[in-house]
Amino acid sequence: MRNFTNVHDLGNLREALQEAFAIKKNRFASADLGRNKTLLMVFFDSSLRTRLSTQKAAMNLGMHTMVLDVNQGAWKLETERGVVMNGDKSEHLLEAIPVMGCYCDLIGLRSFARFESKEEDYGEQVLMQFIRHSGRPVFSMEAATRHPLQSFADLITIEEYKPTACPKVVMTWAPHPKALPQAVPNSFAEWINAAGYELVITHPEGYELDPAFVGKARVEYDRNKAFEGADFVYAKNWAAYGDPHYGKVLSMDRRWTVDAAAMALTRNAYFMHCLPVRRNMIVSDEVIESPRSIVIPEAANREISAQTVLRRLLTANAHEGPPQS
Ligand code: CP
Repeated sequence: MRNFTNVHDLGNLREALQEAFAIKKNRFASADLGRNKTLLMVFFDSSLRTRLSTQKAAMNLGMHTMVLDVNQGAWKLETERGVVMNGDKSEHLLEAIPVMGCYCDLIGLRSFARFESKEEDYGEQVLMQFIRHSGRPVFSMEAATRHPLQSFADLITIEEYKPTACPKVVMTWAPHPKALPQAVPNSFAEWINAAGYELVITHPEGYELDPAFVGKARVEYDRNKAFEGADFVYAKNWAAYGDPHYGKVLSMDRRWTVDAAAMALTRNAYFMHCLPVRRNMIVSDEVIESPRSIVIPEAANREISAQTVLRRLLTANAHEGPPQS
């Protein structure tokens, strides 16, 4: 595996899950694998879980870690080629990226959708530039269209809690005051489809996701119907994908907040959310604090998904020499 940006990069998903469970049993079994290797984590956007869990995973493997918050203390970066740089951006990504590659062995990147152009977001402009120009293996810590480390942790959690071999998983849109990217719901759908589980996606009309990510999932506009018989309820807000409303908030209807009445329609489902979550917008206090809420074990599994991916990247790229001088 040269880079990690989506579920298909892992190859056999069942084997990857087995590897994750082995790592969870003994996180320090490969504590020498990353000796004298440096991970650079580049954040264009804020993070709590991804930052801490990926750093912890790297430390479990014996790596050094460096964190660059691009918008706090670094030069402002231009991302477009051909721009006359007479504004406030002092450095171009096309120099900054290979320079970053000089100081590290692996690069983790967080760069959200900007909602200025669907083509740029869905073309993963920033992620692709890091892959092309860094000279280093790159993994996504949430890009414009996917959040694969989150989805991997979600799937590990579902494997741990599933009451049947093939659970019914419902992903529900829920209200939020800001326009949020589709990366988490896209990615969750991609991974649950890859796992072969029943997936129902429910949302108000106008919030249809890219059909390439929906895949074989069933879309049900009636949330009550969708929740019937659910084993897992995965809540998430996302902004509109379809034209002409791409990146817009179309509804803040709090009837879509996941509350106890909605959860009562399910087969005693577990509640999941990637966090951070806005209480009483996305989910009621009662539901997130209930014994069926598994948001904390889900977050804990971020360390395991990150360590599985880092381990594979280190193993597959072990032949690479030290950073350029
Ligand atoms: N779920 C998740 O990625 O959390 P952070 O944005 O805090 O990293």
